[in-house]
Amino acid sequence: MDRNIRTLDDVLRLLDGLFAPEADRWTAEAASWWDGFYADRSKPVPFFSAKPDENLVSYLDRGLITAGHALDLGCGPGRNAVHLAARGFEVDAVDLSPQAVAWAEDRAREAGAEVRFHRGDAFDLCGTVLGGPYDLIYDSGCFHHLPPHRRLSYLDLLDRALAPGGHFALTCFAAGTMTGSELPDADFYRQARLHGGLAYTPGSLRWIFSGLSEVEMRRMQDEPADSPRFGQPFLLAALFRRDALP
Ligand SMILES: C[S@@+](CC[C@H](N)C(=O)[O-])C[C@H]1O[C@@H](n2cnc3c(N)ncnc32)[C@H](O)[C@@H]1O
Repeated sequence: MDRNIRTLDDVLRLLDGLFAPEADRWTAEAASWWDGFYADRSKPVPFFSAKPDENLVSYLDRGLITAGHALDLGCGPGRNAVHLAARGFEVDAVDLSPQAVAWAEDRAREAGAEVRFHRGDAFDLCGTVLGGPYDLIYDSGCFHHLPPHRRLSYLDLLDRALAPGGHFALTCFAAGTMTGSELPDADFYRQARLHGGLAYTPGSLRWIFSGLSEVEMRRMQDEPADSPRFGQPFLLAALFRRDALP
């Protein structure tokens, strides 16, 4: 007999287990799925190029965010973490995949950038090695790979790690672009699949992150191949601020 549910964490882990590793990217085995994804660094994956997100560069250039302590959540090969370090941030960067972190460390070394990289599940590491509070939590393409129930863990992480007055920015699949899945949340559980990622509308992001104040929400700009920035119009780019303490 199997009576494993007693806490909220037990529920979250049971739901994690519904998504089989071979089909999707969120399970205890997700790290090895991502390791396989990053094994060949020469693959023509748009975000494999060592360019920072155009929206991140734009926030910095316009003074919407200023240097401080940053966390790059799901940093992958580290392109945004390295850019933040070059722009004067003290940077922590975390990723599930040891391959991604090894690649990111190589890039930081080559760029002479100082970044503290951490391997593991951001939600497990929050409150321990990921101390915070952070003036900026940046997520390019991690949130949309999480199953719906992990939004609870994500919001909890923001609650614990984002400094009052700090900013949270994310890019994620935009609905209507044929990239992320537009199925209703319940269907991911019925089908036990995440279909390669979830699409979001501006309204759904506003609702999920309603505890924060919206600064800017728009589609990412399409950047030409020779641009020094990364930009794909199928992504939504959102910037929020946590209100400062009264
Ligand atoms: C689409 S990739 C984006 C990588 C990087 N942000 C970029 O844009 O170049 C998503 C990344 O999120 C990471 N990830 C997914 N869930 C995570 C979790 N719970 N904790 C830490 N990293 C996670 C994956 O390992 C993967 O490298």
